[in-house]
Amino acid sequence: MKTGPSPLPSDEFFENLRRKEYARLDETRSIYLDYTGGNLFPLSLLEDHYQTLKTKVMGNPHSTNPSSLLSTQMVASARQKVLEYFNAEDYYCIFTTNASEALHIVGENYDFDPESFFLLTSDNHNSVNGIREYCHHKGGRHEYFSVNYEDLCINEIALKTRVEQYQGFKRKLFAYPAQSNVSGVRHSLELIPWMKDKGWDVLLDAAAYVPTSRLDLKLYQPDFVCLSFYKIFGYPTGIGCLLVKKDSFHKLHKQWFAGGTVTLVSVNYDRYYLAPDHERFENGTINYLGIPALEKGLNFIENIGIDRIHQRIEDLTGYLIRRLGDLKHDNGRPLLRIFGPEDIKDRGGNIVLNFFDPEGKPWPFELIEKEANARNISVRTGCFCNPGIDEINHCLSSDALAPYFSSRDQGNYQDMVQFLGTMRGSVRLSVGIPTVRKDIDGFVEFAKQYLGLEAPSQVMQQF
Ligand SMILES: Cc1ncc(COP(=O)(O)O)c(C=O)c1O
Repeated sequence: MKTGPSPLPSDEFFENLRRKEYARLDETRSIYLDYTGGNLFPLSLLEDHYQTLKTKVMGNPHSTNPSSLLSTQMVASARQKVLEYFNAEDYYCIFTTNASEALHIVGENYDFDPESFFLLTSDNHNSVNGIREYCHHKGGRHEYFSVNYEDLCINEIALKTRVEQYQGFKRKLFAYPAQSNVSGVRHSLELIPWMKDKGWDVLLDAAAYVPTSRLDLKLYQPDFVCLSFYKIFGYPTGIGCLLVKKDSFHKLHKQWFAGGTVTLVSVNYDRYYLAPDHERFENGTINYLGIPALEKGLNFIENIGIDRIHQRIEDLTGYLIRRLGDLKHDNGRPLLRIFGPEDIKDRGGNIVLNFFDPEGKPWPFELIEKEANARNISVRTGCFCNPGIDEINHCLSSDALAPYFSSRDQGNYQDMVQFLGTMRGSVRLSVGIPTVRKDIDGFVEFAKQYLGLEAPSQVMQQF
């Protein structure tokens, strides 16, 4: 750092907010840089929700007694709020336990068959990757479209050329993340209308995107959108949703029924009728005590303004990248390699990196995490459930991976690293609404201890 860091335009507002809503960060001297893992809840949301729980008698919905009706009404109101927040009047909002369950609903119920094709970007969370197994078991085909090695972005021209090859397939599903949970790259939403024009259904994983960006489902209309609410405002955990475009609802074929999903079932006569809307996919009792908090959480975000949050995250990410980029060993080599685009354009608030010593030898991420933990710094390390990005960053081609997978029925990360003799995994830093510059400065000070230090010669360490 050559000069003292100057304030960011958004500092005053967000520093006040931090004092009011997130005082526990300073009280516990925590440096929290894992907002893509999970956001932190504002205190007022918890207090407000506690008042609701304390003063209202809420029973299991699906009945007509007063406490049941109250829950039904509060859940309906939260559902309406979610739809309004995403400008999603053309969508059903199916409450799920998280984004993964939303993706599971698509995987399990989408009409994969031998005439269908599933195309997904190599930058995807495992909960999207896993859908390929449903496709495969039902006789469909899948392929990955790789993001660029250099900047981890989608080469849109190459993608558009590639999709022309799949014209013979009857059903085509394309899945991609609006924002990478690893690199932070925001992939273009313009792909949605383009793919739809070419006859594809589009599954948009918005889990990492919506916490800091506006998603307007009048403007962009994917068939399916998944997200988790704790990533937007921290509380409650265990609630997500699948937004299904109403005119794509028929593309999901539920194979069974459960409590709450039907309008009628007979035991003596082998028939049942599934609910015609969101209820069809909400199996059993939904989280009726938690769901009312969503309305308060979304109000909290609206009171700040998602565009203001978006700008703040850009300011912070720019600051983080600049400060980390300044860290150089005496021989001029950089301490860190930040993967992904060089600038902050089209980037969200998470970055992924590795530490290197003056000779360019990588530091094992486990060691970095261990030492960060000792300073009460929360970062996330590993592959972040997104093996595609890690395989690109560490040049692990299909040929390189084949000997490992063809030699075992079971495997795990450490075993693979030992076998391949190459490094995998990285360190991810992510900023959020409560982040202030001193969190970033604290991490930079922590990182400085590695300047000039030689990395251990064994890459594969068990820490
Ligand atoms: C882009 C993305 N998709 C899906 C998920 C899965 O979310 P959840 O664990 O809440 O189901 C995550 C979680 O980190 C994510 O970042």
